Amino acid sequence: MTLVGADRVEDDVELREVSKRFGPVLAVDRVSLQVRRGEFFSLLGPSGCGKTTTLRIIGGLEYPTAGEVVLRGQVVTDVPPYRRATNMVFQHLALFPHLAVFENIAFGLRLRGLPSDVIARKVDDVLQLVDLPGFGTREIHQLSGGQKQRVAIARALVNEPAVLLLDEPLGALDLKLRLQMQAELKALQHRVGTTFLYVTHDQGEALTMSDRIAVMNQGRIEQVGTSQEIYARPQTRFVAAFIGEANFLEGRIAASAPDGVLVSVDGLQVRVAGDGSLPVGAPVTVSIRPEHVKLGAAAAGAANRWDGRVQDMTFMGAVVRATVALASGIAVVAEIQNDAAVGLAPGDAVVAGWAPQHTVVLAR
Ligand SMILES: Nc1ncnc2c1ncn2[C@@H]1O[C@H](COP(=O)(O)OP(=O)(O)OP(=O)(O)O)[C@@H](O)[C@H]1O
Ligand SMILES: [Mg+2]
Repeated sequence: MTLVGADRVEDDVELREVSKRFGPVLAVDRVSLQVRRGEFFSLLGPSGCGKTTTLRIIGGLEYPTAGEVVLRGQVVTDVPPYRRATNMVFQHLALFPHLAVFENIAFGLRLRGLPSDVIARKVDDVLQLVDLPGFGTREIHQLSGGQKQRVAIARALVNEPAVLLLDEPLGALDLKLRLQMQAELKALQHRVGTTFLYVTHDQGEALTMSDRIAVMNQGRIEQVGTSQEIYARPQTRFVAAFIGEANFLEGRIAASAPDGVLVSVDGLQVRVAGDGSLPVGAPVTVSIRPEHVKLGAAAAGAANRWDGRVQDMTFMGAVVRATVALASGIAVVAEIQNDAAVGLAPGDAVVAGWAPQHTVVLAR
C-alpha cells in the first residue's frame, strides 16, 4: 500500500458527485465515494439501485450525465475503457465459447502485441493463481461453473489492472459453490493485492468479503463503512432493514443524557447509548437486532427490560425466534439459542430486555 502524507492510504478510485440519467430514470444520483488502494470494496443494494451503472461508469463503459471519475489521481471521465487501468468481470462472464481457456485468457495480451513467450508465461502464472494449473487446453464447455468463473477472473487479472471491477460474479453459482468461491476470491485478492470493486445484492456476501461496503438505494449511497459498522451502527432505516433483521419501534426523543438519550415509545422509555445529536421531541425509529433481545434470566442486567408474554415461537435449527408482546402492546422479536428457549412456550409470561449499546436511534 502507498502512503500519502502521514496516515492516508492513496485512493485508487474516486467518484465526485457522479449522476447518470437514462431518459426519465435517474439511475445514479450524485454518488461520491473513495476506494483505497488494495481494498476489497463492495457496492451493495437491491435490484435496480444503480450498482451496475456505477461500475460501468468507473470502467468507462457508460458516460456519466454529471460528475467526475478519478483513477489513481487522474481524472478519466473522458478516457475510453481500453485506456483505463480497470478490467471488468461480468455477471454472465462473457467468455469466448469457441476458444480454449488459454486463448480466452491470452486475448487481451495478444491485442497489446506482447511476444508469445511472455504471453505463455503470464497465462501460466495466472492459471496457477486461480488454481487451474494445466487447464490451458480445455474447452470452455468442458468446465464446471466455478471453473468458468475462475477463467473469467484470470482473464481480467492477467492484464494486471489497478482496479478489478466485478459485477455479481458469483450470481450464477449454487449456494455451496458460491460460499466456496467467496472464500477463494477473498484469498486471491489478498494474494495479488489488487483493488477489488465488487457489486452484489447479497448482504451476506458483502459482509463476509469486504473491507468496506457502500450501501446503495435508489441511485444514492446511504452509508459507507466496514461490515461491523454497517451492521452494528446503521445510519438509516433502509440500511438497518437491508442488512440483517431488526425490530423497529417508532418514538420520540424524550430526554438527552450525557451517555445517550431516552426515547419514548408508546409509553415505554427506551435507553439508547451514544447518540445525543437529535433534539428532544424529534421523531425517531429505534432499531434493535433480534439477537440482542434477551429473555428471562438473560435479560436480568439489561437497562431496557419489560414484562411481556410469549406470542409465538419458531424453531429455526440452531436458534429459536420468539415474538414477545410487551405490556404496552409493542411486539419484539428475539432470536435466542435453542437451549435458552427450553421451557418457554406461547402464552408464558417472560421478561424481555436489551442493552442501550445494542439500541440504535435513526432519524425519521
Ligand atoms: N441502458 C439503460 N437504459 C435505460 N435504463 C437503464 C439502462 N441501464 C440501466 N437502466 C436503469 O437504471 C436503473 C439502475 O440499473 P442498474 O443496472 O445499475 O441496477 P443494479 O443495481 O445493477 O440492479 P441489479 O441488481 O438488478 O443488477 C434501473 O432502473 C434500470 O432499469
Ligand atoms: Mg446489476
